[in-house]
Amino acid sequence: MQDLFAVLAPDSAEWDLARSLDPARLPAHIAVIMDGNGRWAKQRGLPRVAGHKAGVEPVRATVETCARLGIECLTLYAFSVENWKRPRTEVDTLWRLLRYYLKAELPRLQRNNIRLCVIGRPDSLPESAQEELESCVAATHDNTGMRLNLAINYGGRTEIVDAVNRVIDDARRKGTLSHLKVDEEAIERHLYTAGGPDPDLLIRTSGEMRISNFLLWQIAYAELYVTETLWPDFKRADLLRAIAEYQKRDRRFGGLTRAKPEEEEAEVLGVPAR
Ligand code: IPE
Ligand code: IPE
Ligand code: MG
Repeated sequence: MQDLFAVLAPDSAEWDLARSLDPARLPAHIAVIMDGNGRWAKQRGLPRVAGHKAGVEPVRATVETCARLGIECLTLYAFSVENWKRPRTEVDTLWRLLRYYLKAELPRLQRNNIRLCVIGRPDSLPESAQEELESCVAATHDNTGMRLNLAINYGGRTEIVDAVNRVIDDARRKGTLSHLKVDEEAIERHLYTAGGPDPDLLIRTSGEMRISNFLLWQIAYAELYVTETLWPDFKRADLLRAIAEYQKRDRRFGGLTRAKPEEEEAEVLGVPAR
C-alpha cells in the first residue's frame, strides 16, 4: 500500500481516501465491468468509439492503483461473447485499441511486476490482436506481483461449459470417464481463473444493475458495488471509494456475525443455552 502513497499528492482527496482504508482488509480480488463508454460519447455528441478511446486511461489508472495497493488479482471485463452483436466497425476499433493499449502499457506492466492473463476465448480475435496478447502474456509470465486478468471474448456460461468439457477430457485421458463424478472442486480447477481467489469486490460502472454474463461462478459471494459514473470518468478516487465501501460491508457467507447466538436464543426461549 505504501507504493500507492508514492504517486498521490499529500493531503489530496485521493490521499485521504487511501489513508482511510484498512490495509489488512483489502480485497484480494477486484473484478470490474467497465461499462458506459458509448453513453459517455453520446453525451458529448461523439461517435461511440470515442468513448472506447477515452476508456483506455481509466484502465491504466485502475491497473496501476490496484498493483500499488497490493491487490492480488484484478479482472477487467473488456469484451463479452455477446459483444459480437455490435456493428463490425465498433468491434474492429476495440481490437485496434486493445493492440494500442498492450503496446503502450507493456513497460508499465513490467515496472509494476504485473502478470497479464487472458480469460475467455481469444482464438476468435483477429490474428494481430491475438499475437499482441500472446506476446504480452509471455513477456510478463514470470512477474510475481498482481495478476491482471483481461476478460476478452468472455462469457460466464461459456467458461463453465469449457470447464466441464475439460473435466470430461481429463477423465477420458485418465481412463476414468465411466465412473466420473463432477464436484465443485473439479469445476473450479478447470475455470479460466483457476488458481486465483474468487472476486471479493465486483464493481460495475454506468449504473446498470446486472451481471451481463460475467464470472457467474466466481462471484457467488462477491460484494457488489454499482456506481453511476461512466467508465471513461472513473478515476482513482472512485476506485478507492469502492474499496472503502467494501470495507464497511458485513460479509456473512451464509453464516452469522452475532457474537454469541446461542445465548441470544436462550434468552428468547427462556431456557439455558446448555
Ligand atoms: C463498455 O461500454 C465497453 C464494452 C462493452 C466493450 P459500452 O460500449 O457498453 O457503453 P454503453 O453501455 O453503450 O454506454
Ligand atoms: C458488459 O457490458 C460487457 C463489458 C463491459 C465488456 P455490456 O454493455 O455489453 O452489457 P449489457 O449489454 O448492457 O448487459
Ligand atoms: Mg454497455
